[in-house]
Amino acid sequence: MKIAALADIHGNYQALITIIDHVERWKPDLVYVLGDIINRGPRSRDCLHLIQQKLESDSWQAITGNHEQYVLRFNSPDAPKAGNQFELLRIIHWTYQTLSPGDVQSVTELPLEIETQLPWNHILKAVHASMSGIRVGIYPHSSQKEILGLIQPDVNLFLIGHTHQPLVKTIGKTTVVNAGSIGLPFDGDTRAGYAQITQENNQWTGKIIRIEYDLEAAHQDFFSTQFIPEGGPLAELVLTEMKLGWPQLSHWFRLYEQAVLDHKISIEDAVELYLKNPNLE
Ligand SMILES: [Fe+2]
Repeated sequence: MKIAALADIHGNYQALITIIDHVERWKPDLVYVLGDIINRGPRSRDCLHLIQQKLESDSWQAITGNHEQYVLRFNSPDAPKAGNQFELLRIIHWTYQTLSPGDVQSVTELPLEIETQLPWNHILKAVHASMSGIRVGIYPHSSQKEILGLIQPDVNLFLIGHTHQPLVKTIGKTTVVNAGSIGLPFDGDTRAGYAQITQENNQWTGKIIRIEYDLEAAHQDFFSTQFIPEGGPLAELVLTEMKLGWPQLSHWFRLYEQAVLDHKISIEDAVELYLKNPNLE
């Protein structure tokens, strides 16, 4: 049996089409899309539509990620509409307004988790980050003990994404596979990634595949879609994440969010200052 795990597309259509082409040539029996299809990238709607098209096949399934949840917050009348709080969420609002009501409805319908009965009476569980929550990730540096506390230990195969850092580990009877990220890898390797999982002799083996894609075209998409400039100054940080293969937004927020909210610095100035010394780890 062959299973493909795809995660964290983040509106990177160029990376997605490259990965889907590779996945389809591998001919898996099952394909799991582990959330963060949309947001933090320029072509969320195109990625969502392509995944929806694939979900028409019984072999494809998808779950929600924290970025789907962020975007859905703008579907509420209480969402911020102006001010610094809004400016900090402008990327998310931009993504929201690129989606039709039907798209938003389909995002709402994505489940939080999937459990599948596999051959040999094995069980597969797929969640975005871990059993401790949609934003509590499992990292390559997480200890065996930490991982044990974050998985569902009675399953044979536990599929996750969220950290954008791939991982394959066996903990007790569970093979844990973090598929890494298609659209925004955060391990210094800008190639798109996904996981190929195979079962032989009652044993699961996970393998991370990394593939070069048209980064130049992906770069152009930031501008042709108007994500830059309409997504605001922070959209520049997302482009930097894609080009360098390291997280920037979370680091920027840690350094500047409070100062921006306290009106001590503008978002524009804080981004300009930050980009003089971007994160490389
Ligand atoms: Fe993500």
